[in-house]
Amino acid sequence: MLKRIKPTHVRLGMFVEAIEGSWIDHPFWRKQFRLERATDVEKLKSSNVSAVIINTVKGLDVTVPSLSERKAPSSPRENAELKRAVQTIELAKPMIREMFDNARRGGIVPVSYAAQAVEHIATCMNSGSKALIEVTRLKSRDEYTFLHSIAVSALMVHLARAVDLNEETACDVGMGGLLHDIGKMRIPRKVLNKTGPLDEREMRLIRLHPSHGYQLLARQGDVSRVILDICLHHHERIDGRGYPKGLSGEEISIPVRISSICDVYDALTSVRAYKKAWSPRDAARFMLEQEGQFDRRLLMQFFHSLSI
Ligand SMILES: [Fe+2]
Repeated sequence: MLKRIKPTHVRLGMFVEAIEGSWIDHPFWRKQFRLERATDVEKLKSSNVSAVIINTVKGLDVTVPSLSERKAPSSPRENAELKRAVQTIELAKPMIREMFDNARRGGIVPVSYAAQAVEHIATCMNSGSKALIEVTRLKSRDEYTFLHSIAVSALMVHLARAVDLNEETACDVGMGGLLHDIGKMRIPRKVLNKTGPLDEREMRLIRLHPSHGYQLLARQGDVSRVILDICLHHHERIDGRGYPKGLSGEEISIPVRISSICDVYDALTSVRAYKKAWSPRDAARFMLEQEGQFDRRLLMQFFHSLSI
């Protein structure tokens, strides 16, 4: 049985199946191994990796509750899906990092990476597996941007397919999910990472991120209309009270409506160190109460497709 645990919860005798986090933080060369030396346990505990996947069939189990809220996978199929989701994240992360770093420097964003990453994400979401959505719920502070992008992309591909958009559009929609917040790379880090309440000036700066993202990608000439639309309009509301343009109703395209739903849903349900994550059910209740923010029909289809 695979379990996803905090690095601080590892102990001697556990079998490590995979380590999540950037390879820079990865303290070992080997990918899979049994923890047999106390020094290795200490190394892992003090590392910056975000989580460790252990195999309780090949090694010892945890003595503390499993970190993720999901029920532990019980069948070989669930095990395989979980493994695949972890691999997908590892494949997509460096590509997203490269695109976001380029955006931060104001350079050309290699959008072909988004296409490659979405191919992995879309394949991982095939045959109704939701492991990727489950695994990306847990986000450490330094990985939030990457995992939020992957999660939103996965949810968007899922919803696009659920409402029968063709596969080509679903992939564009997924790329839009990966890139929707890329404009945030142009916002000063001090403002972006501020944990306290934002003042009016800071709020104005943050609210510029859709326009920044749009400008960054539109000048390249190799980015589809669907992706540009999602970048620019994912904070619009059906009732016209969103930003930056205050579009309403039919003026907001279906892919954009999908992006608003998936963006908010992932933000609410993310498990983070400093806040309690909302359960999918509570998030659904809250989002349904937000009169005029989302496309109601799509919202119902979204929750239905996730069996919430
Ligand atoms: Fe945003």
